[in-house]
Amino acid sequence: MNNIKMICPICGEPLLSTGKSFVCTTHHSFDIAKQGYVNLLPVQNKKSLHPGDTREMLNARRNFLNSGIYLPICNEVAEKACELTKNLENISMADIGCGEGYYTTAVRSALNAQDCIGIDISKDAVKMACSRSKDIVWAVATAGCLPIEDESIDIITAVFSLISKAEFSRILKHGGYIIEVTAGNNHLIELKEIIYDSVYIQHKQPAYIDGDFTEISRTESSFTFTLNNSQLKELLLMTPHLWRIKKENREKLDDIPQLTLTANYWLRVLKKK
Ligand SMILES: C[S@@+](CC[C@H](N)C(=O)[O-])C[C@H]1O[C@@H](n2cnc3c(N)ncnc32)[C@H](O)[C@@H]1O
Repeated sequence: MNNIKMICPICGEPLLSTGKSFVCTTHHSFDIAKQGYVNLLPVQNKKSLHPGDTREMLNARRNFLNSGIYLPICNEVAEKACELTKNLENISMADIGCGEGYYTTAVRSALNAQDCIGIDISKDAVKMACSRSKDIVWAVATAGCLPIEDESIDIITAVFSLISKAEFSRILKHGGYIIEVTAGNNHLIELKEIIYDSVYIQHKQPAYIDGDFTEISRTESSFTFTLNNSQLKELLLMTPHLWRIKKENREKLDDIPQLTLTANYWLRVLKKK
């Protein structure tokens, strides 16, 4: 039984499941969709009609992730999560910007976490995530206003998504952790070299986060993988590069039968004081 402690996105009162909907003590009610998710994104928190990743991006991401190419990243997150919570019982976890649920499902099962919630601002993402697991609470919501009770979460994962410092601090227990994965400077550099006229090699590191958190560790990792032409186009579809490149540069991909690419990422652990 998943006992993740949720709150109403409108009034902040505790939100309880009736099986068919989530209802708060002041009677705000949110239906559970037939796929199993709940939409906790009030219109006033939406900045566009369909915020977040589109269905096309999500289908591409699901195919790509299911092929196992990013399994080393997934395993590293899962191992780190297990190491950090090894002395805890009844672990509660939240995956923010969960996308179609690949990392949420894998980390939850590595942790054997009963209480687990996956949150994404994209309704299509959350809808798709439902097919990965029925034991996770899947909710449409924004990282800027999380429908989760104060100090109720042991571990947050944010994989290629975003950190909302104030909200993550609010929902984490004291001593709770954030595992954050962000792209490194050389991430998919070979793809960028094809689709952009010029590529500037940056020397950025994850920005220091202070205040309520202590940074426990940061590691940079890389590995390479080779994609055929259709996988390459799928990869492009699931990245923000798709929106930025010129049509003629996109067409250059048609002539590339296969490409070896670098996955380069930072994994950082933050602990709430
Ligand atoms: C690059 S994807 C990563 C998805 C997933 N973690 C993965 O790696 O497969 C970023 C995700 O963050 C979501 N997102 C963007 N803004 C958000 C917000 N304000 N609150 C919650 N999710 C958000 C997008 O819809 C998208 O699914």
